[in-house]
Amino acid sequence: MRGLWRTGRGRVRPLRWALALLAAALALPAAAAPAGDAWTTAATLHRGINVLGYDPLWTDPARARFQPRHFKVIRDGGFDFVRVVLFAFPHLDAGNRLDDRWLATLDGVVGGARAAGLSVILDEHDFDVCSADPETCRPKLLAVWKQLAARYRQEPASVLFEPLNEPHARLDAVHWNALLVELIAAIRATNPTRTLVIGPTGWNSLDQLSMLALPTDDRGILVTVHDYEPFRFTHQGASWADGGVKELHGIPFTDADAARIGRDLDRVADWSKANGRPVLLGEFGAYDRSGTPLADRVRYTATVRRAAEARHLPWAYWQFDSDFVAYDMARDAWVEPIRQALTGQVR
Ligand code: BGC
Repeated sequence: MRGLWRTGRGRVRPLRWALALLAAALALPAAAAPAGDAWTTAATLHRGINVLGYDPLWTDPARARFQPRHFKVIRDGGFDFVRVVLFAFPHLDAGNRLDDRWLATLDGVVGGARAAGLSVILDEHDFDVCSADPETCRPKLLAVWKQLAARYRQEPASVLFEPLNEPHARLDAVHWNALLVELIAAIRATNPTRTLVIGPTGWNSLDQLSMLALPTDDRGILVTVHDYEPFRFTHQGASWADGGVKELHGIPFTDADAARIGRDLDRVADWSKANGRPVLLGEFGAYDRSGTPLADRVRYTATVRRAAEARHLPWAYWQFDSDFVAYDMARDAWVEPIRQALTGQVR
């Protein structure tokens, strides 16, 4: 394979990722779904986790925190899919061509996840750039998806494409719906039956579900929402949280909060039924550096997980490493109470 991972300081680790890729080529496809039916694909997804968004892997593989073996750790930990968080834009050249080394890294990631028996959502996460400046975003996003869709067109149905995380601001419903027409056409040119993961504007808010316009004859769409409510609990102390939330500390998770989550996910399940579309809860989680007692994070996490599963909504926790963590990279071990809340017996 050409240009496999740039070498950096210290040891080079391309071999492990190349082996993961080889293992994937030999692996059986995870639960194949019939063409074009997102309900069938959704039925193969249960418990997922967001990975790799903020890992040095993408720019300097030698410094990667996440290693190929972590896919097996995730599988053995009780999860059946990963949502791979991709920031592709910095890896485009002036002609909007994706960098070969970045693509080779992504090949290793897709292959490694598949080899571990995990389904994979490829999530394009340049949402801030796109939401602030849709005109600049449009050609880049279309170019990214033309290239990714062509490259991964032979992957099994267990590989899903999510064109853009959390559109918001200037990517309001009108502009997002218009961009979606082009994105879906670009991907469908090479992947007529691939399951696409698409959410409403407003940071994939459930309040915006009714504004999402999807092609009625395309049944290969898994709709996604993100739920961080109550925001003042999940984002307390987070530096990027607006509205005074970053100054908050010690906010507990209450029974009223739990009841609200149940009502919100009822609305999602009702929308799903009324519109004949499966829905994925693609992100939820509580910030881990705000002094929030772990016991409250655990109770919140178990509450959302239980509420989603009671409504047959597959879910993906935010996130494995970096922040909101379910895995402690320093100890190379799960934050076991969080993993239990996500995958253990529901109490
Ligand atoms: C963003 C992260 C953020 C998380 C929770 C994600 O969609 O990419 O940067 O930490 O949401 O706010």
